[in-house]
Amino acid sequence: MSAVERQNGEHSLPVNIADHIRAESQLHPEVTGSLASILTDLTRVAKEISFTVNTAGIQNLYRSTGRTNAYGENVIQLDEKANQQFKDILANNDNVAGFSSEEEEGFVPYPNSEDGKYILWFDPLDGSSNFDINGSVGSIFSIYKRVSPDKTPVDEKDFIQKGSEQVCAGYFLYGPSTMLVYTARFGVYRFTLNPSVGEFVLPKEYAQIATPDSGGIYSVNEAYSNNWPDSVKSYVNHLKTRPGATSRYVGSLVADVDRDLLKGGVYLYPADSNHPTGKLRLNCEANPLAFVVEQAGGAATDGTNRILDLQPESLLQTTPLIIGSKNEVELFRQFTQRPLWQ
Ligand code: AHG
Ligand code: MN
Ligand code: MN
Repeated sequence: MSAVERQNGEHSLPVNIADHIRAESQLHPEVTGSLASILTDLTRVAKEISFTVNTAGIQNLYRSTGRTNAYGENVIQLDEKANQQFKDILANNDNVAGFSSEEEEGFVPYPNSEDGKYILWFDPLDGSSNFDINGSVGSIFSIYKRVSPDKTPVDEKDFIQKGSEQVCAGYFLYGPSTMLVYTARFGVYRFTLNPSVGEFVLPKEYAQIATPDSGGIYSVNEAYSNNWPDSVKSYVNHLKTRPGATSRYVGSLVADVDRDLLKGGVYLYPADSNHPTGKLRLNCEANPLAFVVEQAGGAATDGTNRILDLQPESLLQTTPLIIGSKNEVELFRQFTQRPLWQ
C-alpha cells in the first residue's frame, strides 16, 4: 500500500509527517523535493524550540538580552535562542537562499546557498508575554520563491512579496502539546508532536481542517478600547450582543488564531491611537496566518483590503489585522466602512 493510499484510506492513521510529505509530493508536483526538505527542516527546528521552551526556566532564558529589536521591543534570551535555532538548521539547507525574521534588522543571505530557490520569513517565538508564565507560545513561518535570479545573493525584493505569493506557510504552537499547522495550498493540516518518538503525527480529524463560516469567539486586547476608533468600539459591542458571544485572549497570536480557526470567531488587533498602523508585522505574522486561515475557508483583512493583497513597502511594515471566520471579518469591514460608524 502506498503512502497516498495509507493516508487516504482507513488504515494506519494518524500518519507521520514524513509519510504525509511524501504523499503530498506524489499528489502535487508543486510540492517539490526542495519544498519538502524545507518543511522537514522546519519540523526539526520546532522540535528543538519545543525542548528549549519546555526547559527555558531551568536554562535561565527568561532574562532580557538587554537589546531591543527593530520594532523597539525588548529581546528576551528565549527569543534570541529560537532565532538562532532557525538560523542554524536552515543554514544547512541549500534550497534556502536567505531569510528574514522578527529578530533580524534586515534580511540574512546564506552565501553558500545562492542556488536556493526559496526564502523564508519567520517569527521565531511569538507571544513573549507568555514566556515566564508558562503560557502557550508559537513560531510562525512563511516560504516564498525568490524573485531575484538564482546564483546571485538574495535581494530586498525577495522579502517584500505580497502574501498571495506564499507557497507554504504555517505555525508551530507550543502549548500542552506541540502542534504544527501548515498549508501548501492543498488543505490545512494540524499535526501533533508525539514526544515519545519525537515525530509529528496527523490525527484523522485534523487533516484538511475547515474553519466555521461564523463563530461567537472574539479575541482582542480590550484594555485598548479607549484608543479604538468609534467604528471598532461599535463592532466589538455588536459582537457582544449576539447569542453565543464569548471573549478569549491569550496574548499570543498563534494560540489566539489557532483557537479561533478551530472553533470559529474573530481575532483583531486593529489600528488604535497608540498603534496607528497596528502592531502586528505584515511579513512574518499577518501574511502567514492569513494564508493558513484563508486556505481553511476563513478571511483576513486590514479593515479595507485583503491582507494577502497588500504590497509590503518595507521589511518592517505593520498592519491592522482582523482574521478568522468569514462572516465576522466581513462584518468588521461593514462596520468600519460605514460612515455612520466613523
Ligand atoms: P511577539 O511576542 O513575537 O513580539 O508578538 C507579540 C504579539 C502577538 O503575539 C500578540 O497577539 C500581541 O503581540 C499581543 O500584543 P498586546 O500585548 O499589545 O495585546
Ligand atoms: Mn510575534
Ligand atoms: Mn517574536
